[in-house]
Amino acid sequence: MAQRENTDPQKMEKIVSLCKSKGFIYQSAELYGGLNGCWDYGPLGAELKRNLKEYWWRKNVQERDDILGMDGSILTHQAVLTASGHVGGFSDPMCDCLLSKARLRADQIEPQTGTAYHYTGASHSESGWSVEKPFSVLIDPSANQDENKARKTAKQYYAQFLSDKQIAPKKLELAGETTTEEVDTTQYNPENGSLLTEPREFNLMFQTKMGASSDDNDPNAVAYLRPETAQTIFVQYKNVLDSSRVKLPFGIAQIGKAFRNEINPRNFTFRSREFEQMEIEFFCRPEDGLRLTDEWLEARLSFYEEIGIPRTKLHILDVPDGERAHYSAKTYDIEYEFPFGIQELEGVAYRGAYDLTKHQDHSGKNIEYFDEETKERFIPHVVEPSAGCDRTVLALLCESYEVEDLTKEGGKKDERTVMRFKPCIAPIKAAILPLLKNKPELVAKAKEVQHLLQPFMNVFYDEAAAIGRRYRRQDEIGTPFCIAIDFETLGEEGPNGEDLTDTVTIRHRDSMEQERVAIKDLLPWLLERIR
Ligand code: GAP
Repeated sequence: MAQRENTDPQKMEKIVSLCKSKGFIYQSAELYGGLNGCWDYGPLGAELKRNLKEYWWRKNVQERDDILGMDGSILTHQAVLTASGHVGGFSDPMCDCLLSKARLRADQIEPQTGTAYHYTGASHSESGWSVEKPFSVLIDPSANQDENKARKTAKQYYAQFLSDKQIAPKKLELAGETTTEEVDTTQYNPENGSLLTEPREFNLMFQTKMGASSDDNDPNAVAYLRPETAQTIFVQYKNVLDSSRVKLPFGIAQIGKAFRNEINPRNFTFRSREFEQMEIEFFCRPEDGLRLTDEWLEARLSFYEEIGIPRTKLHILDVPDGERAHYSAKTYDIEYEFPFGIQELEGVAYRGAYDLTKHQDHSGKNIEYFDEETKERFIPHVVEPSAGCDRTVLALLCESYEVEDLTKEGGKKDERTVMRFKPCIAPIKAAILPLLKNKPELVAKAKEVQHLLQPFMNVFYDEAAAIGRRYRRQDEIGTPFCIAIDFETLGEEGPNGEDLTDTVTIRHRDSMEQERVAIKDLLPWLLERIR
């Protein structure tokens, strides 16, 4: 089993670079230096993400009798998020580096051990300038750092307060130097040793103002970009129940954007400020909650296997007491072995009656369920499988990426980059390749095949370069099937004298094997394999 700290930064760099060069994912607003924590999906990324969402919807809504879909608004009434606890409590502890001004998550700072140098201020005797402010620097003597490093860092810090910017930091004199030995401290920036501010709570929600209120401070104009899709489901649960006349247990599924002002967006799209979730709130009788949580965990693991993420790369974290949300009696995190470590893909949480009870209490409206058989009224319990769409796309990219060595014994080095997407997920299902572009009959036949398939799937027509190079280009973007139109298609005899008129060669991406299929059978042949 992989170790939690096993990472492969080089592989991750190659994936990020391929994503940009092939059109999967670009940094948002790259032209203007980039918008941190936001990403744009290019032509192939958009197809990949759409295929994932469609597959999730098909498996969870279309193919089930007990789950209904919805699509709620992103702009959310402040009362909804006050009731859910997000307005008061959806926050991370955060501190700032006094030197670089970098903002860090206090709970993610690695404890450090070393010598802390403390100062009371600094001065510049020539100009008579001085400042009195306490400041400290942590140095690590075991890494050959000494007092000179501490003093240099402290002078850089005090130089920020100079009004005359012509004075070099090294010309400053430090005041009141003392030292202490620190063990496992998290008060210093691991990047530069500078002291950090005390942690403060930082609400992660994006707030906005609605309507044309003339008063900027009008509290009634405040709305939020939703931090999870779940709350829209909870506040519409009663409407769905009444309009669809469903009975417990039943679920409501939703795919949509969520927004969190993450302090440290990182690991490519893994922790973004704008992302998509695929969430199900599955309502049930209280006595069924724990059993259904375990059933949902299994269902979700099977889903990942179906889309090409093997069970061996998934880890189940049974979140221990004290680390779960206070209302949850059971929570599983499904984690994946990303190249940057084992990290959460999805949470399967048993949320009890917490959310519906909160909304009933805050709204003052009765949203109880009435069981016609037992004549009981009660608030249903909820099991929530909550998956990240962008994180799953990232896992699919990481899992599919391979550089395969094709060097034959004693031969010249040969390798190919291949994205081994499952056909149901692959952005392009088939590439249509006429053998030569300067033979109008081949081109016409290839276009005919393209038009035959286009209404049913995403295909790509390519006539530029030698056929071998075109195959490799498709391997790199994960196209599972390449369809070559050659002279046999047009009626030339096959190698054994056979009649291959109106057949094409299908080349399989993974095995690179080829087979001949009649054009009339092509559509069902492909449809069977890409679902
Ligand atoms: N309704 C429950 C909920 O939102 P969560 O664990 O905060 O729970 C669920 O989020 C999933 O949403 C995560 O497992 C992850 O896949 C995705 N997610 C959460 N924050 C994210 C972020 N900043 N960037 C990308 N995906 C994120």
